[in-house]
Amino acid sequence: MAGRWRSSGPLDDAGPKAPTVDTTVAHISRVYDYWLGGKDNFAVDRIAAERVIAAYPNIVRSARGNRAFLGRAVRYLVDEAGIRQFLDIGTGLPAANNTHEVAQKAAPECRVVYVDNDPVVLSHAEALLASGPHGATAYVDADLRDPETILAAAAEVLDFSRPVALMLVAILQHISDQDDPYGIVARLVSAMPSGSYLALSHPARDIHAAAMAEIAVRMNKLIAEKVTFRTRPEVLRFFDGLQLVDPGLVPVPRWRPASDLEATSPTVMWAGVGRKS
Ligand SMILES: C[S@@+](CC[C@H](N)C(=O)[O-])C[C@H]1O[C@@H](n2cnc3c(N)ncnc32)[C@H](O)[C@@H]1O
Repeated sequence: MAGRWRSSGPLDDAGPKAPTVDTTVAHISRVYDYWLGGKDNFAVDRIAAERVIAAYPNIVRSARGNRAFLGRAVRYLVDEAGIRQFLDIGTGLPAANNTHEVAQKAAPECRVVYVDNDPVVLSHAEALLASGPHGATAYVDADLRDPETILAAAAEVLDFSRPVALMLVAILQHISDQDDPYGIVARLVSAMPSGSYLALSHPARDIHAAAMAEIAVRMNKLIAEKVTFRTRPEVLRFFDGLQLVDPGLVPVPRWRPASDLEATSPTVMWAGVGRKS
């Protein structure tokens, strides 16, 4: 099935509307793209990205390690957990090993719904929609703070009577405590049947704490999407009611690393995968 997207109104095949892109303020999708080595960023994003690098040079390796975790988690979910449906919220700009590419390489019938609220990500949605013929992908232009809209749109492509993997990889730091991040995650998980999974990563407040405090100050000054970094116990709360699979909630590179070298890569993020029983 060809990919489809939804920007507002029902899913359609007409293409995304021309998004309004603000190039005067940095946006996290583009800053993260810069750290990953991408080209979909503007001068304002590069300046912000470099200011963060100046506070903690290993942020680049941490971001790349986070991207590698995304791939390892998807492969685990397909190969070992038998998952064939993914709801990937906070997709980011297309990069190497997007969720549907990793998933469909392992099992071509995988169905993936991507969600992001960034207009530049929307404008690149086509690259995320290149589903293999046996599976499906869709893109939903929506905000994580509106889980009902996300669930309604995702239900047009995913079958919520069968297990789904909810991917919240490096996005929850953009949901402040006032916006009830725990309630949002619980609502999304409540829509998924037993045998579903939550995979998430989250910047830490308790790894390299001084550098992370400075990074938070710089990001909140320079980037449109504000950040709240969290401690391991605070991140663990997102898994309430779920069973963490081995090795639990750990620094990103230690989540099922492919090599000893990968396991020791620098990080400022927690990662884990939990199963709903
Ligand atoms: C750091 S990137 C992570 C990209 C990808 N998940 C990864 O880990 O490689 C965070 C993404 O979340 C998106 N985002 C931030 N706040 C959001 C919100 N409230 N609703 C939807 N997307 C959001 C940003 O636009 C950005 O693309």
